[in-house]
Amino acid sequence: MQFADRLSRLGTEGAFEVLAHARQLEAQGKSVIHLEIGEPDFDTPKNICEVAKKAIDDGKTHYCPSAGVPEARKVVAENFSRTRGVNVAVENVVIMPGVKPLIFNAIFALANEGDEVICPNPGYPIYESVVNYCGAKVVPMHLREEVNFRFSIEDLKALITPKTKMIMVNSPQNPTGGVLTREDLEAIYGLAEEHDLWVVTDEIYSRITYEKPFESICSIPGALKRTVAIDGMSKAYSMTGWRLGYGIMPKEMAEIQTKLAINNFSCTNTFAQYALIEALTGPQDDVEKMVAEFQRRRDVFVEGLNNIEGVSCTNPLGAFYVFPNITRTGFKSKDLATRLLDEVGVAGLSGTAFGSFGEGYLRFSYANSVENIKEALARFEKFLAGAAA
Ligand SMILES: Cc1ncc(COP(=O)(O)O)c(C=O)c1O
Repeated sequence: MQFADRLSRLGTEGAFEVLAHARQLEAQGKSVIHLEIGEPDFDTPKNICEVAKKAIDDGKTHYCPSAGVPEARKVVAENFSRTRGVNVAVENVVIMPGVKPLIFNAIFALANEGDEVICPNPGYPIYESVVNYCGAKVVPMHLREEVNFRFSIEDLKALITPKTKMIMVNSPQNPTGGVLTREDLEAIYGLAEEHDLWVVTDEIYSRITYEKPFESICSIPGALKRTVAIDGMSKAYSMTGWRLGYGIMPKEMAEIQTKLAINNFSCTNTFAQYALIEALTGPQDDVEKMVAEFQRRRDVFVEGLNNIEGVSCTNPLGAFYVFPNITRTGFKSKDLATRLLDEVGVAGLSGTAFGSFGEGYLRFSYANSVENIKEALARFEKFLAGAAA
């Protein structure tokens, strides 16, 4: 079959591939502990589900405006203004089926062929995939374990050339759980301003931070004029399957994103947007409970990994991933991830699924019970004790 040439540049997301393989093993009767997919294991809070059911009963089942249901956009504008300490208007908000289409549209709208886009590495693979798809060039920004998976501003400066178009920011970060500091964000923004660059900030883990409160680059005065900020419901409210994301951006960019939506999927699910309103304006206790539980699991996981011979793990400050260093085991990341799944039923991802600087690491999601995490740690330790690299 002959497909369009541009498709050869489109990448994928390792988590979905490993999940499919893990499910095959389970179908053959093998026990698998799922630590591969970045999906909270909690149910969507009941109050949110009830509002969606009522919205269906009330007939909110038709097309809605492509930029989103007006009341939902208003709620997002208010929520974003409050949580980031800024002042955004409804015209700056678009609602889309998840964070992914907002990322896609932002890159698609900004990156010309030959432009350079600075992407965190290890980093969320969809950024690289879409940049390549658009014919632009990915410039990896090395996130370093020594600084808890942040980056050095000198490294970032050295990456900027006359071709640089935009910088992708993701904090709290997938896959490392690293969190950028206010100083990091100010430095990024300073460089963006100096070199006239766009910033795309993926803030999907904004609600899932532990020791330190979340900081957004948007709160830096003036930042919103060159920033596309993206957040959504998938992770904080355990709503991955609902497909709800929102973006805050200059009005002209919001119009472009809306046009792309019209060409692609018309609008976001109408009744789901009523659930978004409830999620953002209703009680937040469930989010707090989920975050507290994630923190408990993180502590068990990090301690357990550091007790395994040959493995070390920094303490992630956000999201729900651990990113242990496995270089002392002698294994390559991909081999180890594959063998852990095939031989002892622990499904995790190779650090290289997140870019070349992910070599020497694995990524495990701790969206699973403490009991399963402990069992996975035991299997991992036993595997390393008995296997040769
Ligand atoms: C950094 C990052 N951005 C975006 C997404 C996708 O979010 P959504 O489900 O809202 O499309 C994920 C999901 O894993 C993620 O880790």
